[in-house]
Amino acid sequence: MIPYWLLSCLLYLSISSPKLSEAKQKATVLITGGGGYIGSHTIAEMLDDKYSVVVIDNLSNCYAFNDTEKPESLKRVEMLTKKKVIFHNTDIRDSSGLNKLFKSYKFAAVIHFAALKSVSESVRKPVEYYENNVAGTNSLIQAMKNNNVKKLIYSSSATVYGSPQYLPLTEKHPTGQNITNPYGKSKYFTEEILKDLSYSDNEWKIILLRYFNPVGAHPSGLIGEDPTDIPNNLMPYLSQVAIGRRNHLDVFGSDYPTPDGTGIRDFIHITDLAIGHLRALEKLTNPAFKGCRAYNLGTGKGYSVLELVKAFERVSGRRINYKLTERRKGDLAIVYADPKLAEKELNWIAKRYIDQMCEDTWRWQRQNPNGYQSDQDEP
Ligand code: UD1
Repeated sequence: MIPYWLLSCLLYLSISSPKLSEAKQKATVLITGGGGYIGSHTIAEMLDDKYSVVVIDNLSNCYAFNDTEKPESLKRVEMLTKKKVIFHNTDIRDSSGLNKLFKSYKFAAVIHFAALKSVSESVRKPVEYYENNVAGTNSLIQAMKNNNVKKLIYSSSATVYGSPQYLPLTEKHPTGQNITNPYGKSKYFTEEILKDLSYSDNEWKIILLRYFNPVGAHPSGLIGEDPTDIPNNLMPYLSQVAIGRRNHLDVFGSDYPTPDGTGIRDFIHITDLAIGHLRALEKLTNPAFKGCRAYNLGTGKGYSVLELVKAFERVSGRRINYKLTERRKGDLAIVYADPKLAEKELNWIAKRYIDQMCEDTWRWQRQNPNGYQSDQDEP
């Protein structure tokens, strides 16, 4: 029997117009952590835009049939784009593995996604978070330096702003204050290391992309967010309730100073976020670009938790069971971006809005009720 996701792939490929132009292939980029949610969507956009990629991932947070195979997410990306993804099961802390890689390929730049990312886990295991996220980045930049590759895009987060002193958050907002967990601090510490690196050697060109709340999936439904554990974040939890994998959603806090009492966030569609990396790459390879610069990737508009629940119900036609519960420790009331700097300097703007975020999440969830492992569950 042909699995559902494969049928949808064939359908998607038949309706999406193939690019027949033989435009020149662009540079080769090293992608760390490319098997994950943001990495896999970014790679799909990069391959469509004629970049070549070499991906490393230690498979700690993405599904692969076994240790020697490429993650399922990347096999799907290959199917979707009809392009090859070179993959190595390499950890960013493995200096000799990294050095070998830099000697084997000619990288124009590195996009660094690899990191641990659970806020709650980081409170329990701070040392692992600093080891992976901070020391791991140090190991990567050391290998880049040794091999004279000095262009880097770093996956940062709005969490570096801590509790907002004003809204919307601009890139000038102070960072590093009142960050409530080791995950957030690891992003802030790494930003500081990268800034110091760029001050120390003006050959380095570094872009820090501060993501707001990435949600959604590729419109084909072939790739999407696939948490290996119980989801911590709102959208994957919500969609697992919609599909019946979880009984109800706990809405954390209904007494925030917001119109409906629930927290407000700047949800951004994963495809917009992925395209933001392409614009950053173009900026980085422009000879006029110098130093280290941070950009917000958000829509500039906030939606409350209950507004997202209602939008999801509308597009999915399913009722979402939810319970209003206590606030989650460390959560903020309202967070949204001022994305104007990215518009001005990267020529980037988020185009996809809340219904599309929900529709695409729902398509991915419906087609892959158990994430990337769905194929194995087929009879
Ligand atoms: C969190 C982290 C952020 C990280 C991001 C993505 C903090 C303060 N924020 O963002 O650093 O980059 O995850 O990993 O550390 N909610 C519910 N029920 C749920 C889950 C969430 O009501 O089951 C609510 C939250 O209270 C919040 C909103 O939904 O108001 C968004 O939560 P979430 O998706 O976890 O993202 P953030 O907390 O904004």
